[in-house]
Amino acid sequence: MPGIAVVTGPTHGIGRATALGLARAGFDVVLLARNTPLAEDVARAVRGLARTAWVMRCDLASLASVRGAAQAVATAVPHVDVLVNNAGMMPTRRAMTVDGFEESFAVNQLAPFLLTHELLPIMPTGRIVNVASAVYRLGRFDAVTIESTEAPFSLAAAYAQSKLANVAFTLGLAERLHAAGRPVTVNCLHPGVVATHLLPDRRRWQRALFGFAGLFMRSPERGARTSIHLATSPVVTGVSGRYFDARQRVRPLRGAVRDPALRDAIWQFCASRTGVGA
Ligand SMILES: NC(=O)c1ccc[n+]([C@@H]2O[C@H](COP(=O)([O-])OP(=O)(O)OC[C@H]3O[C@@H](n4cnc5c(N)ncnc54)[C@H](OP(=O)(O)O)[C@@H]3O)[C@@H](O)[C@H]2O)c1
Repeated sequence: MPGIAVVTGPTHGIGRATALGLARAGFDVVLLARNTPLAEDVARAVRGLARTAWVMRCDLASLASVRGAAQAVATAVPHVDVLVNNAGMMPTRRAMTVDGFEESFAVNQLAPFLLTHELLPIMPTGRIVNVASAVYRLGRFDAVTIESTEAPFSLAAAYAQSKLANVAFTLGLAERLHAAGRPVTVNCLHPGVVATHLLPDRRRWQRALFGFAGLFMRSPERGARTSIHLATSPVVTGVSGRYFDARQRVRPLRGAVRDPALRDAIWQFCASRTGVGA
């Protein structure tokens, strides 16, 4: 089954472990990263596993950069068999992207929505894996908080909203692919609480607390297990539109995402802002 896998956010944490895990499973790997020197280090490690690696620049905070990266992928490889939308960020304050969107929603949701649609033409078959988070169930969708510089900002609410959108996107895409008769599956997951660079910089006492908590966190390699399972395991052949926990189990959906009207509103928002998926 191995072929070509595209991984976003391969420079650190779960994405780096995922890229290396997929190479170990026999995949050649396209590394989409904004920090290309760091991605080259990962590429060297992939090549050390006797697989091919490509590094392509992609700043997920820019829709133009995402489109350019998708074009570069389509030029470099004949097809994509696995797409892992892994990259993510947690903002400390409101920041707006060049396209005018709150940064975490842009990076965590609009970018994978666009990238996926741009790569689907070269995915005749295959698997899409969206790295969400269990906090999706706390998320609420409010377009004003994404587009208005004046709206009040909460780190937790912004991050949860973006992860709610990841799960809604997974369900919506699975339905559309199924309706179109396309043999491409899409699932999402919570990787566990993993010791990575995700948590924003904090004051010294907070860092000490998180350092202590870090003793109980998963390693990036353990955090990558569900992504690699969904990308490679025969157990999930044909399974689509599901949310998996960190132990590779399908979990029932909770919170606002159970509402089909809300899922549709999120889809329409993403489609209208990215110009794909309408
Ligand atoms: N860690 C956890 O406990 C946890 C829990 C639930 C869900 N998750 C999810 O797991 C995924 C991976 O996160 P992680 O924990 O491995 O975090 P991480 O160590 O901070 O890695 C995040 C990756 O995303 C990339 N990235 C961030 N912003 C980007 C941008 N604008 N353009 C391109 N790449 C960008 C980073 O690249 P740079 O090197 O350029 O910064 C890095 O490679 C995320 O979707 C996160 O929401 C993590």
